[in-house]
Amino acid sequence: MNVAPSSADTPRATAATAIILAAGEGTRMKSSHAKVVHQVLDRPMVRWVVDAVRAAGCGRILVVVGSHADEVRAALAQEPGVECVEQERRLGTGHAVRVAVEGAGVTEGPVLVVCGDTPLLRGETLAALVGAAATEPGGALLTMTYADPTGYGRVMVGADGHAARIVEQKDATPAEAACTTCNAGVYCFDAASLRAHIGELTQENAQHEFYLTDMVQLLARAGTPMRAIECPDADELMGVNSRSQLARATRAMQGRINAALMDAGVTMLDPSQVWVGPDVRVGRDTTLLPLTMLYGATTVGSDCVIGPNTRLTDTVVGDRSVLDETVAIGATVDDDVSCGPRAYLRPGAHLMDGSKAGTHVEIKNSTIGRGSKVPHLSYIGDTQMGEGVNIGAGSITCNYDGRDKHRTTIGDGVFVGSDTMMVAPVSIGDGATVGAGSVITRDVPAGALALERSEQRTVPGWLPRWKRDAQKGAPEA
Ligand code: UD1
Ligand code: CA
Repeated sequence: MNVAPSSADTPRATAATAIILAAGEGTRMKSSHAKVVHQVLDRPMVRWVVDAVRAAGCGRILVVVGSHADEVRAALAQEPGVECVEQERRLGTGHAVRVAVEGAGVTEGPVLVVCGDTPLLRGETLAALVGAAATEPGGALLTMTYADPTGYGRVMVGADGHAARIVEQKDATPAEAACTTCNAGVYCFDAASLRAHIGELTQENAQHEFYLTDMVQLLARAGTPMRAIECPDADELMGVNSRSQLARATRAMQGRINAALMDAGVTMLDPSQVWVGPDVRVGRDTTLLPLTMLYGATTVGSDCVIGPNTRLTDTVVGDRSVLDETVAIGATVDDDVSCGPRAYLRPGAHLMDGSKAGTHVEIKNSTIGRGSKVPHLSYIGDTQMGEGVNIGAGSITCNYDGRDKHRTTIGDGVFVGSDTMMVAPVSIGDGATVGAGSVITRDVPAGALALERSEQRTVPGWLPRWKRDAQKGAPEA
């Protein structure tokens, strides 16, 4: 009989627990906000790190919070399954890890420690570290070589590839400081040996902190050294401690995302002037022109031209649409649509196939039917517009009476003359025509002409009379 081994017989590989350190003050940022909530593209740094540990297959994800804890918790609110552990007193990276393993009861399996300020980390890199650590008694850590190692801990690596100890910049002798092998702050420990020795850390150093980096020497002395693994892409391990480094990290992430988009068939006139968030999708043969930002859950189809000077957030664009100098938030733009220059599409704006929102046009919570056009200087809000409608320049749906919002309905094939005010709630039937300059306060039936305009007065022969009066001069007082 062929019996599969029961789970009790097979040693089950425990998924690694991730600990993300995010409690520090971040003083070098000179900010009133937590360092790890500063954004790289449209995402707080700490969320990039959460994505990376999740991609590496970590089971539990613990984030150590402390300084500006509420802000960090809020930044993580949409991340499912992330547990925050409070480090009340910031006594150093070693203390932070101790608080996490003891506070969250981490007793077995691999423990992956990363910093919340290293947003460029890749999931594959972390997975490879966890894999390599599995065959080492003391686990493993990542190193990188920087020509200018200023600010990083220096890793003293023995001939056998094991790390002997890490010296922080502030504690380093000139000879140690000359070492260019830097500590990435990314470690994979075994939970049991980490817990066995973490209590031995002391604050005897320049910063009077419990350094996590000292675990390397403690484990080596205990006969269970950590392996140092050099990461080929040193940029990936860059820690962000200052605004300049934040800008560098943003540029690196932008380069990474834009290269992938170009590889997938997206054209960019100048990729250094296009910023695309990690969840955005862009179809083939779409061109992204300079000063364009695509953020949130934005999707753009094929053969579109987006930009210049365009920002789309949580917006869905179909195929062959042109969005020139457009700002769109929570909008839907179907196929063959033309927007801008200077269009503003607000939440709930839906431009159906072949429609147009032209120059200085704002549309909110409204559907613009197939082939309908709002070409110039208009506001359309809370409106259901049918197909083939033409809205003349300067027309406005007056949707707000100072207290409540009301809807406007415009049927198929309606022609609205320029400078028309449609005072909602109001409805204009299919095929109706509204004369220019009208203030429409009552429903217009299908096929009707509505005109609301005071009668024009014309005085023939006005000019010679006016000149004659002027020559006589003003009557003497
Ligand atoms: C740390 C490492 C250094 C490494 C560098 C990599 C130590 C002592 N030094 O230095 O060797 O080269 O990262 O980027 O570990 N944090 C807490 N609680 C604390 C202190 C810090 O959660 O009590 C968090 C911070 O929020 C930050 C991370 O730990 O996300 C690292 O702290 P930071 O002060 O940035 O350390 P570095 O000086 O960069
Ligand atoms: Ca740092």
